[in-house]
Order: sequence, then structure tokens, then C-alpha cells
Amino acid sequence: MKRIGVLCSGGDSPGMNACVRAVVRTGLGLGLEVFGVERGYTGLVNGVVRPLVSHDVSGIINHGGTIVRTARCPEFREAEGRARAAEHCRRLGIEGLVVCGGDGSFAGGRQFWHEHGIGIAGTPGTIDNDLAGTDFTIGFDTAVNTAVEACDKIRDTADSHDRVFVVEVMGRASGSIALQVAVAAGAEVVLLPERPQVGPEQVAALMAQARALGKTSMLVIVAEGAGTGQGVAHAIELATSGLSVRASVLGYIQRGGSPTSNDRVLATMTGAGAVHALVDLGPACCHHIGVVTGAVTRTPLDDVVGRPKPLPADLLELVDVSSGLRLPSLA
Ligand code: ADP
Ligand code: F6P
Repeated sequence: MKRIGVLCSGGDSPGMNACVRAVVRTGLGLGLEVFGVERGYTGLVNGVVRPLVSHDVSGIINHGGTIVRTARCPEFREAEGRARAAEHCRRLGIEGLVVCGGDGSFAGGRQFWHEHGIGIAGTPGTIDNDLAGTDFTIGFDTAVNTAVEACDKIRDTADSHDRVFVVEVMGRASGSIALQVAVAAGAEVVLLPERPQVGPEQVAALMAQARALGKTSMLVIVAEGAGTGQGVAHAIELATSGLSVRASVLGYIQRGGSPTSNDRVLATMTGAGAVHALVDLGPACCHHIGVVTGAVTRTPLDDVVGRPKPLPADLLELVDVSSGLRLPSLA
């Protein structure tokens, strides 16, 4: 393999730049030419690429976002769009691609590989931590730290006003961020798409227990896939007949900002690992490059795409244990 491309796809995540940097520097070190594909699969479909050299990726390891931009590309979902992308790859001599993105981006990469035989090495670029084949995803740690810092501040107001606060964090299909934030922020309860049986009614029931323990305020973390902050706050107000409940939606602050050292290291390990996988496996490469218990791993995309990543049951248990409250449905 002589030429490879690197692209970021789907929602941005802090650490994507560190990944692009590792791909470029590792690729150049192995004697490859590396092309940056602009705006995810959109750049591939339209042939918008540029060669990246070492100084192009200087000083970006600490920056959020991505210098090659990211996008969602409806055309790539169609065979015709992927055929155009393959034509550009052939014209440019690009034989392998590093795709930094989430499950959808991996689904697209796998389809492209099946149809056109371009090597695909996926790196886990999503804050959601919902990909099989890696312990953590690039950006998850940063997003969680951002959310925990916000929760600590909200807790001050909750305590001062004897209020219940509902904090909505990202995660449309996965409660991974919500669960980690709940444990780290010492939240009393967490609402998750994976556990729909725990909702506002259970939170209301917990209030009685909380009062008995002398608690006059509560922090409820809700993953966006389990309900909106406002909706959950309103439902708790109704179920507790008039308790003072406020909602805070953290939103996109979770997607940006300087990546934590954990995310920079994960991005660097997987970015470098992706280039090595393309070089070692050539056009046969259709793998997710993750990190499992500290080691870089290669998992076939067939075993990753569409596979749910279960939440760690012990963390879920810890939210209840550390709050001292017991959810009625689990008692
Ligand atoms: P993420 O990678 O974060 O899960 P998306 O689900 O939005 O983000 O997917 C990113 C892009 O990947 C889509 O805009 C599309 O271009 C491509 N993609 C997603 N699913 C498929 C698919 N089944 N086939 C082809 N391309 C896909
Ligand atoms: O995939 C990351 C994520 O932040 C999800 O948690 C969220 O549901 C989604 O992206 C929102 O993305 P956008 O608003 O950019 O479509």
C-alpha cells in the first residue's frame, strides 16, 4: 500500500485531531503518502482531498473538532455515491482509508469495502462509547469530564435551593455517558435508554427515601435517549405534586473542547494502529482498531457494526449503592 486517506465522519468528538495526526505521522514514517479527505464521505464522493504532510498536523493534538472537518453524507448511503467515491480513490491511487467515526460510519466503510475492495481501518471516533471492540471511544472521556464539571456546579444550586435538578446529557441510543457521569458526579439516579423501566415515577418514589436520609436536593442524570431534561423534570413535578424541579440540557458543550490525556492517547494508539493494520492486511483490511485492556486490537467490522455494547452492570449498581437510595423496582 502506497497511498492512504484519512477521514472523520458523523458527529465530531474531542481527540479526532489527535487521531488524524497519528495517522499522518505514522503513515509518513512507513513511507506512505497520506491524503486528508474533507468532510467525511462527502469529500470522498466529490473527490475533495488534499495531501497531508507532517507540519499540517503540528499543534493540533490539543484541539477539539477536526482539521479535515466531518459531515453526514446521504449520498454515501446509495450505491451510486459509493461508486463515485471508489472512482476518485482509483484515480488518486488511494488503496486504504482510515475512518474515524461511529457505528454508522463503520457501516458505510464496511459496505464500501465489500463493493469496491478499498481497505478500511475504523477508529472509534464518537463521544457515545457505544462501539464493540474497544473499551472506550475517542472523545468519551472528555465529554464525561465536561459534563461532570457542569454537574458539580449545578449541584451547588440544587443544594442551596433544596431542589431536584435533571441534567440531560448526550447519548441518543446509549446511556454510557449518562452512567459514567452519574457515578462521577454522585447523582442520586440515572435514566437510561437501556433501562426504560426506571422513569420519573421511580425518581419521585426515591424522594421519600432521600428525605428520610436528610437529603433535600437530588441530581438526576438523563441520557437524551431516555427522555428530554424538560420532559423528565415536568413528569417528576407532576408525580411529586409540586416539588421544585429544574432541568439543564448540557448539549453540544460535550462534543467540543481540548481532549483529555486519555482521549489523546487512545486516539494516537488507534490512529497509529489503523495505519499498521492497513499496511499489514492491505485490501483485506476491514477492521475496527480499538484498545482493549491497554492493547491495540483489530476486530472485523462484521463483528462490530450494529452490535450493541452492553453497559457495565457493576457501574449501574454503583449509582444506587453510592447514593444510599434503593430504586423501588430493584429493591
Ligand atoms: P456515526 O458514525 O457517528 O454513527 P452516522 O450514523 O450519522 O454517524 O453515520 C455517518 C455517515 O456514515 C452517514 O452520514 C453516511 O454517510 C454513512 N453511513 C451510515 N450508515 C451507512 C450505511 N448503512 N451505508 C452506507 N453509509 C452509511
Ligand atoms: O453521536 C454523538 C452524538 O453526540 C449523540 O450523542 C447525539 O445524539 C448526536 O451525536 C447528535 O448529533 P447531531 O446533532 O450532530 O446530529
